[in-house]
Amino acid sequence: MKQKTLFNFTYIPEKKLLKQGSESGQPVLPASDNNARKRDKIITEDKGNLQNLLSELDKLVGLAKVKELVREIMAFVEISRRRERFNLKNENLVLHMIFSGNPGTGKTTVARLLGKMLAELKVLPKGHLTEVERADLVGEFIGHTAQKCREQIRKAMGGILFIDEAYSLARGGEKDFGKEAIDTLVKAMEDHKNEIILILAGYQREMEYFLRTNPGLRSRFPIQIHFPDYSSEELLEIAQLMLDERQYSLSVGAAEYLRSYLKSRTTDKIANFSNARLVRNLIEKAIRRQAVRLVNRNIYSRNDLMVLLREDFLPPAGSGEEHYLPD
Ligand SMILES: Nc1ncnc2c1ncn2[C@@H]1O[C@H](COP(=O)(O)OP(=O)(O)O)[C@@H](O)[C@H]1O
Ligand SMILES: [Mg+2]
Repeated sequence: MKQKTLFNFTYIPEKKLLKQGSESGQPVLPASDNNARKRDKIITEDKGNLQNLLSELDKLVGLAKVKELVREIMAFVEISRRRERFNLKNENLVLHMIFSGNPGTGKTTVARLLGKMLAELKVLPKGHLTEVERADLVGEFIGHTAQKCREQIRKAMGGILFIDEAYSLARGGEKDFGKEAIDTLVKAMEDHKNEIILILAGYQREMEYFLRTNPGLRSRFPIQIHFPDYSSEELLEIAQLMLDERQYSLSVGAAEYLRSYLKSRTTDKIANFSNARLVRNLIEKAIRRQAVRLVNRNIYSRNDLMVLLREDFLPPAGSGEEHYLPD
């Protein structure tokens, strides 16, 4: 293809690219590369599934930056594979990640979706999520830790190993078995480069400290995603989504109560505030309270079975509590 030079940059005029079809969405492949053609066909056929997963991601409330980054990762993976076919240089595809953020901000939910997307793109053979924490990895006697880690790595093989509250592995310092767990995991990451992705998750401050005190780790986890707390409006939207999914709805009084309750919880920043998980627990509790309210009634409508009232969200009279604190 004819190239031109401008200010020392070599470029291909866009008209030529258009003629070649690459701008019109037609894959331009080396003529001899039949395998690549087949692979491209697979990718095109699988696009439907990937598209569904991306729209599932989009349906999550808020998380604008997280969504953008996930799209970037997906696009980068796809383009890296296309470049490979043209023998173009590629950055190493290292997709181990750090997810920082408070509980209930969507870390596990996004990791699960990511696994499925990477399986669609054939980056991971299976894409399932194995969620573990310190107790699943760290043993109590010599040899126990390596054995526990191997077991979890075996389970996660082909997918994502998601380590919640990963900073707690560094608890106890040099002599603690947590250190051995970290070393075993790092070794597994290298031995099974193309079969497993590790995600370390936890509170932002603790994860920062963890990485600072284990400087070798940062470069092994090149993708860092922060999950911010939700605003009270976002939490209300999440509540609506959860209610729709379960075919329930709120009375005007219940909606008003939930709005003011979430507002006070987000502005007061009460310790252990668990974001979307708090919303889920509130709704599930109210659903059970509604059931108790209705179970002995002989006459009820379809609407009665769907609507949650303000009283379903309130603690029982005389309990002395102002609100339920379900978490
Ligand atoms: N942005 C969101 N939109 C809708 N539901 C959400 C969102 N974020 C979290 N959830 C829901 O909240 C609950 C807790 O989310 P989870 O991913 O387990 O949080 P984390 O792993 O950060 O503690 C799950 O039921 C999840 O489906
Ligand atoms: Mg989680």
